[in-house]
Amino acid sequence: IPLLLLSLIFGYLLGSVPFGLILTRMAGLGDVRSIGSGNIGATNVLRTGNKKLAAATLILDMLKGTVAVLVAGIAGPEAAIAAGLGAFLGHIFPVWLKFKGGKGVATYLGVLLGLFWKGALIFAAVWLLIAFATRYSSLAALVAAVVTPIALYFIGYHQIAFLFLILTIIVFLKHRANIQRLVSGTEGRIGSKK
Ligand code: G3P
Repeated sequence: IPLLLLSLIFGYLLGSVPFGLILTRMAGLGDVRSIGSGNIGATNVLRTGNKKLAAATLILDMLKGTVAVLVAGIAGPEAAIAAGLGAFLGHIFPVWLKFKGGKGVATYLGVLLGLFWKGALIFAAVWLLIAFATRYSSLAALVAAVVTPIALYFIGYHQIAFLFLILTIIVFLKHRANIQRLVSGTEGRIGSKK
């Protein structure tokens, strides 16, 4: 198999591990997909009321992307990018969950951390700023995902900027229901149960 395809598949398999679902099940909290937004990500795990599980979900969903990039990166920068793309797609479209996975935010950040850590700082700073100001996790992610490819482009990382432009478009498509709720004023805030 060609190296890039191998890296993509490797990243996909790592990214497709649904940590939010696994951790909440292990903790005896039932199926996280039946509460809140129905998502398997850290924001929705937080709606179970268990902050530690939410933090663990965030870190593990991030690390899937970072580890995929760093391991494949041994074979070169193109392999790292292919693995990062794979991890992101694996998280959002896991074959094990009939391709219904998460919304990609934590893995987006993890892939960015592995490829260009200063970019991850920019994403995290924007996310935190919007999250503290509005308490909307989804809005924070959407704004950070718009800023990131633009910032990468102007810093001069054109190839990575293009990758993250594609990832941002997918993040937006996965947040359609959130965007509708934001517009109608019914989106749940961080820490609230709905
Ligand atoms: O990371 C996902 C976040 O942006 C939205 O999560 O559960 O509120 O749809 P949720």
